[in-house]
Amino acid sequence: MIKSGIEAQINAVKEYASFFDDTLVDSNVPLSCIIYDPYAYFLCTTPEAKELVVNSVKALNNALPTLFEHPIVRNKLQATGLSHVTSADDLIKVFETSSPSYPWNFMACYFTGTPSTADKIFLRTKYIDDVVMENQKTIKQIVVIGAGMDMRALRLEFDQEITVFEVDTPQVIEYKTNMLTKTISKHITPRSKAKNCHVSADLRFAEQWTKQLVASGYDPTKPSFWLAEGLLMYLSEDEIDVLLKTVSSMSAPGSKILIQTVEPIPPATTPEMKMLYMMSAPIGEFRSFTTTPNLYLDRAGFGSDIVLKNYLHLVELYGAPKQNGTSSAFTIGTKPSL
Ligand SMILES: C[S@@+](CC[C@H](N)C(=O)[O-])C[C@H]1O[C@@H](n2cnc3c(N)ncnc32)[C@H](O)[C@@H]1O
Repeated sequence: MIKSGIEAQINAVKEYASFFDDTLVDSNVPLSCIIYDPYAYFLCTTPEAKELVVNSVKALNNALPTLFEHPIVRNKLQATGLSHVTSADDLIKVFETSSPSYPWNFMACYFTGTPSTADKIFLRTKYIDDVVMENQKTIKQIVVIGAGMDMRALRLEFDQEITVFEVDTPQVIEYKTNMLTKTISKHITPRSKAKNCHVSADLRFAEQWTKQLVASGYDPTKPSFWLAEGLLMYLSEDEIDVLLKTVSSMSAPGSKILIQTVEPIPPATTPEMKMLYMMSAPIGEFRSFTTTPNLYLDRAGFGSDIVLKNYLHLVELYGAPKQNGTSSAFTIGTKPSL
């Protein structure tokens, strides 16, 4: 049951999104996070989201059949009140009877990561939101490459002068468009007045995606703000260079870009790290790591006014709880005037 003393927050959520009535009870996600990003919460509570989590538990269990016997997993399950869970089937049964938000939050916090993974995502979201909001005062075109389920186009308080272009693969754009039109728009009122353009294209094919971007209204003669969050680590070094040079060729002087990159993974020094690496290996998809993301931006022509932040900087910036390690960097570069 919802504990007393937080009614004001709950009412704020309900006012914002009617569907929360059904899912708030027993939610294990902090209400402040739901209020901040109701879209992410909504997307994590769909039947498809649950199916994704169930499939990844099965895949992890197939790759690591002794997973549920590992002392670290046993400790985590015990700490979460799930000591009776001794197999993937047991865990899936828990998901079946839990609140809709439970499976994703469980995976994010206790299974594929650590509690600090979720905290890092909160920090990264807040930092990028703040950078985007600061820049939209002067730059009116925003392009999110590898946008995925990024909902800034709806979630942030943009005015009608702003256009947010979102580029992703056809399957992702189709899923997002369907979710937005069939369900999300019925439940959540956007805070944004921006125009939102979806561009279905593969970012590895420069000519194709740039043509589609322009066809959907992008103007390469005007400055733009580019966002590459959670994308570059899935590309090879060569693909990153080609992509960022293409972005640069589409950017007027004064345009900016924010890239998220991942630092090389340090050797596992604790049993927890060893366990985490073992669990990440079957699903490990990262293809590039760097400690010098500024060089990507230099090479692409975005080498001016570089601002580089890692999680330690973000912790300091927002007075957040201390994080384990740095792992990601967020680098902003500017295309200089001619
Ligand atoms: C990890 S998600 C990040 C989504 C979002 N930017 C965020 O940070 O929440 C990576 C996204 O990049 C997209 N992506 C990866 N390679 C791509 C490509 N070659 N062309 C277009 N999109 C791509 C994926 O489809 C996926 O939606």
